[in-house]
Amino acid sequence: MRLYGLMLLSLSFWTPLRKIESAVESGLSLASDPAGIVDFLDMINNLKGDSGRGYYMQMVIGTPGQTLNILVDTGSSNFAVATAAHPFIIHYYNRAVSSTYQSSGRGVAVKYAQGEWEGELGSDWITIPQGPSGTITINIAAIISSEGFFLPGINWQGILGLAYPLLARPDPSVEPFFNSVVRQTSILDVLSLQMCGAGVSASTTADPTSGSLIMGGVEPTLYRGSVWYTPVLEEWYYQVEVLKLEVGAHNLNLDCKEYNSDKAIVDSGTTLLRLPGNVFSAVVEAIMQTSLIEDFSAGFFDGTKLACWMRGESPWRFFPKISIYLRAMNTSQSFRLTILPQVRTFPKAQSTLNFVHKGLQYSALDSEFHHQNSMYCTVHAPPDFCSCTLHAQVTHVH
Ligand SMILES: *[C@@H]1O[C@H](CO)[C@@H](O)[C@H](O)[C@H]1NC(C)=O
Repeated sequence: MRLYGLMLLSLSFWTPLRKIESAVESGLSLASDPAGIVDFLDMINNLKGDSGRGYYMQMVIGTPGQTLNILVDTGSSNFAVATAAHPFIIHYYNRAVSSTYQSSGRGVAVKYAQGEWEGELGSDWITIPQGPSGTITINIAAIISSEGFFLPGINWQGILGLAYPLLARPDPSVEPFFNSVVRQTSILDVLSLQMCGAGVSASTTADPTSGSLIMGGVEPTLYRGSVWYTPVLEEWYYQVEVLKLEVGAHNLNLDCKEYNSDKAIVDSGTTLLRLPGNVFSAVVEAIMQTSLIEDFSAGFFDGTKLACWMRGESPWRFFPKISIYLRAMNTSQSFRLTILPQVRTFPKAQSTLNFVHKGLQYSALDSEFHHQNSMYCTVHAPPDFCSCTLHAQVTHVH
């Protein structure tokens, strides 16, 4: 699990963001760019990656250009790239050979919900092969040292913070990437992000083409029906308002404040779904009541138990859908986002745990709400479904 958003509610699907109100008010069809400078079709499928390790985009930085993969993160506002070797990355940005790099001499540090880095602020030219055409000068934080930020199995070397200036470090005067793009090109201050491939096992080493970041609008061929918008309550994170939560058909019926405590945000850098403690407990309770798995215990959710099923079977039918209701632009209405278990619950990145007990083959599933580095399983007298004790370093997310 990666938590690059500085943090809470991550919705891994169609998420039109940013200044959406003004776009709607001006009656833009958003179907195409009137000036013809931006071609949204070129931006389709410009993201790779998966929901476990993040979604990234290719960028060419400096002069001559150095090609790097950059993680797309709506939960922060700095553009930062590795400028030194690290065991988990294959290459990095070499400022010394870029004739257009300019150092500001200022230090900068960013702490995410998971991981942190320190570096130096500067600027350089970039081009985005599958983005708006032209060369843009942007602020770049050169990552010199980091802790828990680059992780095994990732295929990106930097991060693109797409949130508002208020979150930029060391202060909001450091213009975020997308603000620079809007100021220096003719695109509208609108972006939309579609992340696909949920439920695809992360065990494949090849990175599937799996999403689109459309800079300047919304690409009509990427969706059907109409787009529902939700107000951004405050422009720092993409802070939104959750009105209701359902597990299966069961309304959790908590006070609305619980769902939004201390904030609900749309964060592409947080994989899976993060919930406040009280909501988490209510969701676990509701899932246990509706689950078809025998002896399914809360231990699954604190990382001490695995859920198991017959090998070859799909586990998804054992888990309910979760529906999140967001406030609509007409504030007396809401709309529902339904999250399938495939999106929340992943077979382990390295391998789904397969094992044999009494001649039967089983598979085990990692909990959707925690992660661990390695695990093995001891079977306690399973009937059809087994209960496994997890021996692992478990990192809880609270
Ligand atoms: C907003 O929604 C309410 C309830 O559905 C409806 O009665 C009202 O007409 C809507 N307002 C606008 C401006 O569409």
